[in-house]
Formats: sequence, structure tokens, C-alpha cells
Amino acid sequence: MTLRAVVKGVGHYLPERVVPNAEFEKTLDTNDEWIRARSGIERRHFAAEGETTSYMATAAAQAALTQAGLAVDDLDAIIVATSTADLTFPSAATMVQAELGMTHGFAFDVQAVCAGFVFALSNANAMILSGQAKRVMVIGAETFSRIMDWTDRSTCVLFGDGAGAVLLEAQEGHGTSDDRGILSTDLNSDGRHKDLLYVDGGVSTGTTGYLRMQGNQVFRHAVEKLAATATTALERAGVTAKDVDWVVPHQANIRIIQGTAKKLGLPMENVVVTVQDHGNTSAASIPLALSVGHARGQIKEGDLLVTEAIGGGLAWGAVVLRW
Ligand SMILES: CC(C)(COP(=O)(O)OP(=O)(O)OC[C@H]1O[C@@H](n2cnc3c(N)ncnc32)[C@H](O)[C@@H]1OP(=O)(O)O)[C@@H](O)C(=O)NCCC(=O)NCCS
Repeated sequence: MTLRAVVKGVGHYLPERVVPNAEFEKTLDTNDEWIRARSGIERRHFAAEGETTSYMATAAAQAALTQAGLAVDDLDAIIVATSTADLTFPSAATMVQAELGMTHGFAFDVQAVCAGFVFALSNANAMILSGQAKRVMVIGAETFSRIMDWTDRSTCVLFGDGAGAVLLEAQEGHGTSDDRGILSTDLNSDGRHKDLLYVDGGVSTGTTGYLRMQGNQVFRHAVEKLAATATTALERAGVTAKDVDWVVPHQANIRIIQGTAKKLGLPMENVVVTVQDHGNTSAASIPLALSVGHARGQIKEGDLLVTEAIGGGLAWGAVVLRW
């Protein structure tokens, strides 16, 4: 018997306020057509005042618990993937723990920017396989609207806010690729590219700072690295792209999503796409896509999924799992 980290529940939360592309035309030299054509984004959600990352993460976790038919007492750990925690510390995860009323176990954040959820899933998987936890709530939650430079048209039109959560549970499998649960992971980073995508604030500046990005440079790395990490993870899982039911990519740009699918040899019919509705929600984008894809009836029990993401660092990775 082989231990597997199996998805027991999934949920998400999106702020009420929806901002269509046209809204940026009032303040910036941009237009709906450019944003749609270059990124595939049509609208995004922005958090209201007081609607924090930990608030949205808690709501997503509650939705995942409800879907799983489990209670807070059933959890051993909470991992929140985020680059926009409410405060420098404590972690957003401990805030979620408190909000959920969980007084046992442990909680911590993972920071790998847009690749954060893949890194968090991999951490949760390792903890489950090593026996440190039986049930782990893995959340991706972000309020990137709070680190936008609203005068920079090359970044502020691309990002959005939201949260998604996946509840993983230790279950016995047979050690084959037919098992449900996480079948393989692949993580990478290369700090030489740290200046391509970063926030120009933090404890060293005494400010929160704004997101800065060399978009076309990030784009250049994205398709190649995403296809490579997905291929590595698929090989590790003992499956091929042909076996994949759903690619659930980080939702940054439709052209990156299409380019990666093409490199993997998969048609867009096998890709869960939410970028048009959410924009780039960084670490929240994959769990949001998993939850929306499940709610749409696309992702079903037994389906083989590959998730892949890249973000600041650069950091990138992939997870292969059977739903
Ligand atoms: C940001 C991105 C959409 C820009 O598309 P692009 O085709 O690479 O465009 P460029 O950055 O080369 O800019 C082309 C022109 O559009 C302009 N432009 C940028 N943003 C614009 C906007 N919102 N509206 C209109 N024009 C815009 C640029 O100023 C530039 O004008 P110039 O040629 O006069 O200098 C694209 O590079 C991208 O998606 N990169 C990856 C970003 C990403 O996903 N990051 C997160 C990874 S986690």
C-alpha cells in the first residue's frame, strides 16, 4: 500500500466587486480590446476595504470543508500560499486558523508568488506522505490589488483578488498512476531572474511597495519552463500528456496558457480556463480554477490533472494528481 494525498474538498471565494476592462479606460491610456487581445482578461474581482487575504482564505477554506463534509476539528494543518498576507507577520495561515476556530495543529504560509499554490501542494503532500499530518487545508489567497501601481498600465490591468482552497486527506493507494491523489510534483526556482518580477517594497524600505514586471521577459520564460515542468511531473507520475484529462494552469495570460498546451500537445478543450473572469490572482489562480472547473462539471472524480505555474523568483513547478 502507498500513502496518497487525496482531494476531499474544494472551494473558493471571490470579492463581490467585478471590474471590467473598460473601467481602466477612464484613468489610463489603454482599452478593452488591447487587454483582451494581449492577455485574454475581460474582468477581475477587487477586494473591498477590510476584505483581507486571510478573510478570503477563511471563506474558501470553509467552502472546501463544507464540500468535504468535514469540520475544522478534522484538520491537522493549514498552509496558505500568498505573497499578500495581511501583515508582515504573523502568517495569513495562523489568522485563518484563528478565524476557523482551530485550536490544535499548525499553520504556516508558503511564499512562491504565482507558483505558490504548487509549492504549497507539494509541501502538503510531503507532510502527508511522511505522516506529519493526515488532513491539510491548502489555500491560495491574494489581494494583489493592494500592490498595484494604478498609473502603470502594463501591470495594473492584469491582476485580481480571490482565494481557493483544496482539502487533502491521507488515503491508501496501490502505488500506481490509477490511484487518486497527488501522483508527482516538480519544483524549480532560479533567483538570477529575481528582477523580472518583484515588489519594490518590504521591510528594507519601510513601505508595502508596488509590483514591477518586465512582462515580455517573463513571457519568454513562461511557456518553455511551464511545458518543461509539466513534462517532468508527468514522467515522474508514470503517465503521458495523452493520459491527461485536464490541464489546470496558472491563469496569467491566455497566450501563455495556449502556448503551454500546444507544447504539451494538448488541445484547449482539455484546459480549464478562468483568466477571462479572474485575471491573474497569483497563488489563488490554480485553486480558483480547480474549484470553478469542478463546479462547472469539467473536473470529475478519477480525472487526471496536471497543474503548472510560474511566478516571481522566478519560481515554477507542476503537480500531477488524480481527482
Ligand atoms: C504584460 C503583457 C500582457 C504585455 O504584452 P506584450 O505583447 O509582451 O507587450 P509589451 O510589454 O511588449 O508591450 C507592447 C506595447 O504595449 C504597451 N502596453 C502595455 N500595457 C498596455 C496596456 N494596458 N494598454 C495598452 N498598451 C499597453 C507597451 O507600453 C508597449 O508599447 P510600446 O511598444 O510603445 O513601448 C505580456 O508581456 C505578458 O502577459 N507577460 C507575462 C506577464 C505575466 O503573465 N506575468 C505574471 C507571471 S506570474
